[in-house]
Amino acid sequence: MAFSDAFLDELAARCDIYDIVSRYVTLKKSGSNWFGLCPFHTEKTGSFSVNTEKQIYHCFGCGAGGSVYNFIMQIENLTFPESVEFLANLAGVALPEQDTSYHDNRKRLQELNRDAARFFYNTLLSPEGRAGYDYLIRRGLQPGTIKRYGLGFAPDSWDSLMNAMTAKGYTKAELRELGLVKPNNHGGFYDQFRNRVMFPIIDIRGNVIAFGGRVMDDSKPKYLNSPETKLFSKSRNLFSLNFAKKNTSRRLILAEGYMDVIALNQAGFREAVASLGTALTQEQAKLIKRFADEVIISYDADSAGQNAAARAADILKPADLKVRILKIPGAKDPDEFIREHGREAFAALLERSEDHMEFTLDRIRAGFDLETDEGRVGFLKEAAKTLARLSSPVEREIYASRAAESGNVSKEALLSEIERNRKAYAKRARSEETRRLLSPEKQAQPVNRSLHYADMRTARAEEGIIALLSREPSFAQTLLASGVGPEDFTSPFLKKICTFILEQYRTGNSVSSGALSQFLEPDEMSELGRILSAPDTGDAASAGKDYIYIIKESRARHADADGEDPLLAMRDLHKEKKSYGGSFS
Ligand code: CTP
Ligand code: MN
Repeated sequence: MAFSDAFLDELAARCDIYDIVSRYVTLKKSGSNWFGLCPFHTEKTGSFSVNTEKQIYHCFGCGAGGSVYNFIMQIENLTFPESVEFLANLAGVALPEQDTSYHDNRKRLQELNRDAARFFYNTLLSPEGRAGYDYLIRRGLQPGTIKRYGLGFAPDSWDSLMNAMTAKGYTKAELRELGLVKPNNHGGFYDQFRNRVMFPIIDIRGNVIAFGGRVMDDSKPKYLNSPETKLFSKSRNLFSLNFAKKNTSRRLILAEGYMDVIALNQAGFREAVASLGTALTQEQAKLIKRFADEVIISYDADSAGQNAAARAADILKPADLKVRILKIPGAKDPDEFIREHGREAFAALLERSEDHMEFTLDRIRAGFDLETDEGRVGFLKEAAKTLARLSSPVEREIYASRAAESGNVSKEALLSEIERNRKAYAKRARSEETRRLLSPEKQAQPVNRSLHYADMRTARAEEGIIALLSREPSFAQTLLASGVGPEDFTSPFLKKICTFILEQYRTGNSVSSGALSQFLEPDEMSELGRILSAPDTGDAASAGKDYIYIIKESRARHADADGEDPLLAMRDLHKEKKSYGGSFS
């Protein structure tokens, strides 16, 4: 991929992390760092820090962190190259010529997807697409709606799309990269979408980024979707947001399926979007927050749909969105409801949609038999647990009244149970905080589980080496001379970082945060942000020796696994320790 270190450095130099972050977060100076409320999770005290000297940010609460590029990726929901382009625009810096190859390829893929969508659409309107067209009309869609969404038809053929697109000059490799064709067993390719009604997925910039294709009968799978590609990340997009974003009400309706959203649109509810067939993600919640303050979840009426709605609410709430949940009586989904009862009826449902707390209380109530004392006590206890989480006393009072009434329990009993739970929560939060402070080891595990350290002591030494290398590049010399290298590291991602830094050193390149952001995954970069945010250890030389010793010791401990004699390895090491008199414990 594309950008030179020099360009990334130059751009980062013009985009001071303080200036960029301040556009989104109010920062206050404290010590040598700036602090503010983290934009990536909900919090009341600022654990989000910006270090202008190292040009990194780090949140001690949620673990987010990295360079100015990572910040823009995270807050603007962009890929790395897009974040570079974004900052270049902001700083008025032109993207270097040779760096546009990535964009050229991307542009071609975008054009290919658009041409494929056009091919599917034209086919739908041709005699060959008759079955698909009739299917959509039978499902209540009007011709205008079909056109608005650019719905299409993939012919019942192994190579129609492939032939049409290669005739236009696209390569099979490009078709494959977008998941439009798949390799067969004879070195050739075949069309992935066959005999299906096609739903183009369009992003907020108007690009066709993927397709969903539906069978016209009950065969399986019901939908085929494009894989993750350079253009398409399922977890970062929402179907029909390109239309919904034009709505100015700051309210979105979140449905499960393509057909639900299209039916809602046809009925005039332009603010409908769907989550592309998976559980709602935090990225999607952030995307929604850019266009709305309130979400009405309108999932299928079955229990799978209602459970998914509860989970979606749990994702949306922390993104500072007001959440209401719609219940659809007597129909399986919004599409069916609108077809049977019409637009006005759905509008009435929207008005009556419950807020999240009522929905939750309903679900709790349904789990108990309120005719019995036992059931009422159970309900009271569960409801109190939930209501105790509300931070506003007014809200607690209001919901307690309603819950008490509907659950047939006394309001006083409920309120006192809520108080008891609040005290317990506060106590638990305090002791968790103490435990966290007393156990720096626990706190130092990477937030992302897949990066967790198997050997904490060694990993801390490895972190120390990386921090030292970034603070004093000349430490690379000491490290290379010590006989310890990244190959001895126990943490794979720390090994990856160390290898990269040493390679930069060897080739005479600097280790800038820009180069690292391009090389590392965002999660890895967040962890690096944490490592580099730790206070600098005083004496670099002796700290370095300690780290190297700890790694050698761990290597010796593991030597037997590699067929060496562990005793010999240990003895050599102890001699070495005496000779330099390291200060480790
Ligand atoms: N979905 C999918 N793959 C499947 C089934 C579902 O990707 N095999 C996704 C689609 O985005 C679909 C959504 O999950 O729109 C909801 O699924 P479902 O409720 O089963 O489909 P509907 O959208 O209601 O489709 P239809 O009304 O055409 O049956
Ligand atoms: Mn449906």
